[in-house]
Amino acid sequence: MVSVLHTALELRAACDEVRAAGGRVGLVPTMGSLHAGHLALVEHAARSASAVVVTIFVNPTQFGPNEDFEKYPRTLERDVAASAEAGATFVFAPAVVEMYPPGERTRVSVSGLTEHLCGRSRPGHFEGVTTIVTKLLAATGPCVAVFGRKDYQQLKVVERMVRDLLLPVEIAGHPTVREADGVALSSRNQYLSSEDRARARAIPEALRRAVEGFAAGERAASVLRSQAERHITSAGLHVDYVTLADPDSIEPFAEGDLVGERALLAVAVHAGSTRLIDNVVLGEDPAPGAEP
Ligand code: PAF
Repeated sequence: MVSVLHTALELRAACDEVRAAGGRVGLVPTMGSLHAGHLALVEHAARSASAVVVTIFVNPTQFGPNEDFEKYPRTLERDVAASAEAGATFVFAPAVVEMYPPGERTRVSVSGLTEHLCGRSRPGHFEGVTTIVTKLLAATGPCVAVFGRKDYQQLKVVERMVRDLLLPVEIAGHPTVREADGVALSSRNQYLSSEDRARARAIPEALRRAVEGFAAGERAASVLRSQAERHITSAGLHVDYVTLADPDSIEPFAEGDLVGERALLAVAVHAGSTRLIDNVVLGEDPAPGAEP
C-alpha cells in the first residue's frame, strides 16, 4: 500500500523514519500523468533504495505564460495506483500553496548550463525546475533521486545544482524509454493527432541516423546537425532547435567544429501545437530503437 502525503512536514517525517530504521530513500520527481517512462524511474529507484517517494506536482513556475500549465493532464488517482504497482512507498502530492507559501520570494538558478537549448526557447523554465527540485530535495532529505535522460539538459542542470549547493543527494540518470517505433514516451504525446504522432517518428529516426553516421566516423558538427534537422523538417515537423552540443557543458558546437568522443544531439520540435523533445549522446547512447 502506498501512502499519499500532502505536506512537506509529513514527507520529512516519513523519510526520517526510513533513514532512522537504516533504510535509504529513493525519490522520483514527476508532474504526474505517469507513463511507462516514469514507472521505469520508480523501478530504478526501488532497486537503489528501500523506500521510494514519487512526487506529483504540476509546477507552475516552470511553465511560460503561453504554455500548457492549465491543460497539463492531472490524473492523481491513476498515478497513485501506478506508483504503488511500480514499487513506490509514498506519493507526495502537495498543493501549490504548500510548495510556494504566501509571500514566497526565493528562486534557485543555475547559470551557463541553462543558456542554450530549452533554456533559450523557454525563458525562466529552468529556474522553475531548479527551484521546485531544491524544495523537493530539501523536504525529502538525504536520498537517491532519479531523473530521465529524455530531459538530458534538466538532468545536467540538477546534477550541477546538487554539487554546487552541497545537497546530500545522489542523482541517477535513467535511459529514455521509447515506444516500439522509437518515439520517446512523454505525457504530452497524448495531445498529438494521429497525423502528428506519425510525423513524430522522424525524431528518433533522425537521432538514429546521427548515431549511425557518428559510428561510421562522421565528426563534422555541421553535417551531423544539418542532416538531423533536414530529416525532421522534411517530415513536416516545425523545428524549435536541433543542436549539437558538448554533453557536459551544454555549449553548442560551432558549424565549423569537429566533435570529439561524445556529442549531445538535442532536438525540440512542434508537432501541431505540441512541443516534443528528444536527444541522444553520440558516442555514448545506443541508437533509438536499437536498445538491448
Ligand atoms: O521532469 C519533470 O517532470 C519536471 O521538470 C520535474 C523534475 C518533476 C520538476 O517539476
